[in-house]
Amino acid sequence: MSAGANLKAYNSLWQLRNDTWSSLEESAIQLARAEAQQRPVEKLVETVTELLDVLGPIERFWAFPGAQAYREAQRLFAADKYDRLAALVTKANRALVTESYLHGQGWDPGVGDDTYDNEARPAAQARTDRPYFEVLVVEDMTDEQERLLREELRRWRRPDDPFVYEIVVVPSFDDALMAARLNFRLQACVARRRFTHRSRHDLAPLARFVYSGGSADLMERSPDDRAQLLARSLARIRPELDLYLMTEIAVEDMASRLSHHYRRIFHVREGSLELHLSILDGVSARYRTPFFNALRSYSHRPTGVFHALPISHAKSILNSHWIRDMADFYGLDIFLAETSATSGGLDSLLEPTGPLREAQELAATTFGSQRTYFVTNGTSTANKIVVQALVQPGDIVLVDRNCHQSHHYGLMLAGAMVTYLDAYSLNEYSMYGAVPLREIKRQLLALRRAGKLDRVKMLLLTNCTFDGIVYDVGRVMEECLAIKPDLVFLWDEAWFAFARFHPVYRPRTAMRAARTLAERLPEHRALFDKFTEEVGPIDYADDEVLLERRLVPDPARARVRVYSTQSTHKTLTSLRQGSMIHVWDQDFSQKVEDTFHEAYMTHTSTSPNYQILASLDLGRRQAALEGFEPVLKQIENAMRLRDAVEHHPLLSRYMRCLTTADLIPAGYRPTGIEQPLLSGLPNMIKAWETDEFVLDPSRITIYIGATGIEGDTFKRSQLMDRYGVQINKTSRNTVLFMTTIGTTRSSVAYLIEVLVAIARDLEAKVAGMSPAERAAHERAVLQLTAPSAPLPDFSGFHLGFKDSSGQPTPEGDVRRAFYLAYNDSYCEYLTPDEVEQRVESGEQVVSTTYVTPYPPGYPVLVPGQVFSPQILSFMRSLDTPEVHGYRPDLGYRVYTDKALEIAATARLAPPPDPAGSAAAPPTAT
Ligand SMILES: Cc1ncc(COP(=O)(O)O)c(C=O)c1O
Repeated sequence: MSAGANLKAYNSLWQLRNDTWSSLEESAIQLARAEAQQRPVEKLVETVTELLDVLGPIERFWAFPGAQAYREAQRLFAADKYDRLAALVTKANRALVTESYLHGQGWDPGVGDDTYDNEARPAAQARTDRPYFEVLVVEDMTDEQERLLREELRRWRRPDDPFVYEIVVVPSFDDALMAARLNFRLQACVARRRFTHRSRHDLAPLARFVYSGGSADLMERSPDDRAQLLARSLARIRPELDLYLMTEIAVEDMASRLSHHYRRIFHVREGSLELHLSILDGVSARYRTPFFNALRSYSHRPTGVFHALPISHAKSILNSHWIRDMADFYGLDIFLAETSATSGGLDSLLEPTGPLREAQELAATTFGSQRTYFVTNGTSTANKIVVQALVQPGDIVLVDRNCHQSHHYGLMLAGAMVTYLDAYSLNEYSMYGAVPLREIKRQLLALRRAGKLDRVKMLLLTNCTFDGIVYDVGRVMEECLAIKPDLVFLWDEAWFAFARFHPVYRPRTAMRAARTLAERLPEHRALFDKFTEEVGPIDYADDEVLLERRLVPDPARARVRVYSTQSTHKTLTSLRQGSMIHVWDQDFSQKVEDTFHEAYMTHTSTSPNYQILASLDLGRRQAALEGFEPVLKQIENAMRLRDAVEHHPLLSRYMRCLTTADLIPAGYRPTGIEQPLLSGLPNMIKAWETDEFVLDPSRITIYIGATGIEGDTFKRSQLMDRYGVQINKTSRNTVLFMTTIGTTRSSVAYLIEVLVAIARDLEAKVAGMSPAERAAHERAVLQLTAPSAPLPDFSGFHLGFKDSSGQPTPEGDVRRAFYLAYNDSYCEYLTPDEVEQRVESGEQVVSTTYVTPYPPGYPVLVPGQVFSPQILSFMRSLDTPEVHGYRPDLGYRVYTDKALEIAATARLAPPPDPAGSAAAPPTAT
C-alpha cells in the first residue's frame, strides 16, 4: 500500500489524517509488544513505515501533533525505540481523538524528553477551558530559528489570556496556501519577509483534497507585491484569517500601501510581544458576542418586573402549581433571559443603537455584506421585508415560479406585477431545477421590446434550490445588468448561509459575487468597449444576438444592488426562526434606507424574541471562528453517505444517489463533469468556476423508485415512524437528505444502518410475497419508475389581471387577482372534471387562489392564472397527501365569468391610486 494509493482512497484529508493516527497508534503498540515478547516485527515495521509516510506530507501544516511530533516519532522509530514511539503516538492520538488539546495549555511535544511526559508537566497556571488555535508563520527559517520563535511567543503567555495558540511555520508561498486550505485550526497568519515561492516538498499527493490555483512568478516581484499577493491569495481561501506582516524595511511606507490587506504591520525589531497581543486581540474581536453578553448579564440582574412579561425570571412558572415541569424541562436561564426592549437595559431590534447594532455589524463583516439585519421570524419574513422595501405597486419583478411561498405572498402584498420564470424540469424525478440564464434574458429582452424595462425592478431567485442546484450568481447579475443596469437582485439563500465558509462555494454566494462585481466593474471598460464594437449599442442590438452572447454591463451605468436572505437556523447555529438579511447595495443609503426601515417595522414584531437574537450573535461567532471546519466535515459526511449507498450491494439494488448529471442537464454543464466532487476536488473547482449550474454536494437526493414506496410514505412510515430519522423533502420517487454542520459521522453511520434495514426488510417482504402481492409490488415499482405527467410551466395570467399599458407581456397583478376573490359572489367551485370540460371547450378558467401540492410545495396555480391542459393532467397524476388551495369536497375555487368580465373592464380603466388599490373592488360594477 503506497502512501499515494492510500491518499486516493479517501475524499477527506481530515478523515485520512485522523484514521492514520489511530492506525499508527494501534500498530505502534503492537510493534512495542512484539518487540518486548521477541516476536517477529518485520510486518509491523513495514506498516508503521507506510503510516508515517502518509502522515509526513500532512503534518507539516499543523501545529498539533504537527511536524515536531512527527519528526520525533520518526526519530524514535529509526532508533528502534518502539515503546517510546508507542507512548508518543498514543498520547498524540488520544489528544486528537478527544480533542483535549483544544482546551488546555496547548501542546508541547516535548522533543528531547526521555519520557515524553507532556501530561505530567505542571499545569498549575493553566486554565483548561481556553479555546486553542493555530497561527501560520510564513518564513523560510531553520529548525533552530523556528524553535526560538515558538519559545519566544510561548513566553508571553499569561494565565488570564483568553486563548492559547501554537505556531505552524512554513517556508514558502505555496506551503502557506496549502496550510490555509488544509488546516481549519488556523486563525491568523504572520507573513515575514523571507519566504520562498515554491514548496520544497511535492504537494501533488494533497492536490486531490484542496484547491490548488497557480500563482504568478513571485520571485520577480517586489517585497510589497509579494506581501500583497500572499494576503490576497490567503483572503480568497480564508477571508476570516487575521493577517499580520513583519518587515525589516520602512514599515511606515508599507503600512500606507498594504494596511487594507494586513490587520497590523510590524517592524521585526519591535519583537514578538506586540505580535502576540495583536494575535489574541484579533481573535477576541471575532469572539465578541455583544448582544449575547448583554443578554446574559441582564439575566443575572435581580429585577422586579412590572412589565407585561410574566414569564420573565420564570416568575409565572415558579409560582405555579401546574406548570413547574416547564422550568424543569427548559432550565432557568432561558427565563432569566426573557426580556423586552421596553423593559430597559437592552437594545431594541426596531431601532438598534447598542449591542444589537454591534452584533449586526460583526455579522456584516463575517458574511461579507455592507449591512446585515437580524430577523426573528425566519426567512419567510426576511423575504417580505426586502420585497416591500424595494418594490412599489406596479413595479415588475421577475421571479422563479418555484420560489418559496413567502415570495408569492410578499409580491402579492407589495402589488408587484409578477413575471414568473420557468425553471427547467426533471420529469423523471418530479422535480424542478433552476431558471436558465437564457430564460431570464429572454424575459428581460421581451420587456425591453415592449418598452417596459424602466418598470422592471427586481430579479428574485433561490440560491441554492431546495434540491441543491446552485446558480452562477455573478454571471447572472453581470448579464442582467447589461440589459437593465439598475436591476436589483434578491437571492433567497435560505439554504446557503454556510456556503460563505468554503472557498469553492463562496464565489457563488450573493454577497461575494456582489463584492467581486463591484470591484471588477471599473475594469470592465475595455471588455465593454469591445463588446459594443461587436454588437453595436446594446439598447439597439438584436435579441437573438444578445441571447447567444455573454453580455457585458456598461461600467458607467451598472449599479451593484444585491440582497440575500439566509435562514441561519437552517444551515448554521441559531434557534429556530433566526434569519439574516445581507445587503450589498451601492444605492442603499440614498434610495432604500428609509423604505427598508418601514418594511422592517411592517413585518417585525414589537416583542421580538431576544433568545433568537442572541443565538444569531453566537452563530455568527461560530461561523467567524470555525466556519471552515464544520462545512468541510459536512461535505465529507455527505460524500461518505453517497459512497455507502453506491457501494453497498443491497442498498444499490433499491436506491441510487442522484448525481450532478442526473439533476443538471448536460447543456448547463460546459465542463461535462458528471460527478464533480466524487471525481476529486480539482474537478469540483473546475465545474464550480465554469458551469451554469452546479450541485451542492452536501445535499443527497436518493432515488427510491425501485422500492415501490412513494417518497412521502417512505419518509413518514419508514424513516420517521420506524427509525426517528427526520428529513424535509420528498418527491414521487426521491427523498432528500441534507448534511449540515450538525451532522456527525455517527449520524451518517446510523442513517446507513437504517437504509440497509429498510432494504433488508423490503428484500424479505418481496421474497415472501404471494404472486398477487408480487404483481402489485411490481406495478408500484413501475408506476414510480415510469415517467410522470410532465411538470407544468407557468400557463399565463388571464387578460383581466395583465398589464393594460404597452405591448402585452406576461406579467400579472397578483394582488388584484387575490383580493378580487374576497367577494364571494365572484367565485365558484368547479370539480376537476368540470374544469377540464370547460378548458377543452376553449373557455378560460381562472384560479382565485394559490394551489400548491405539498410536496413539492410550489404553486401550480396562482391567483389570476388560467388553467391549462398540462396543469390538469399533472394534478390528476399527483398522489401527494396535501394540496393547499384545493378542496377535495368542492374542487377548485375559480372566478365566475362575470368576475372575469369585470376584471377585464377594470383593467382598461385608468389605474387607481396605488396606495388605495389593494382591496378595492373593481369600480366597473
Ligand atoms: C427557499 C426558501 N426560502 C425561504 C424559506 C423560509 O425560511 P424560514 O423557514 O426561515 O422562514 C424556505 C423554507 O423552507 C425556503 O425553502
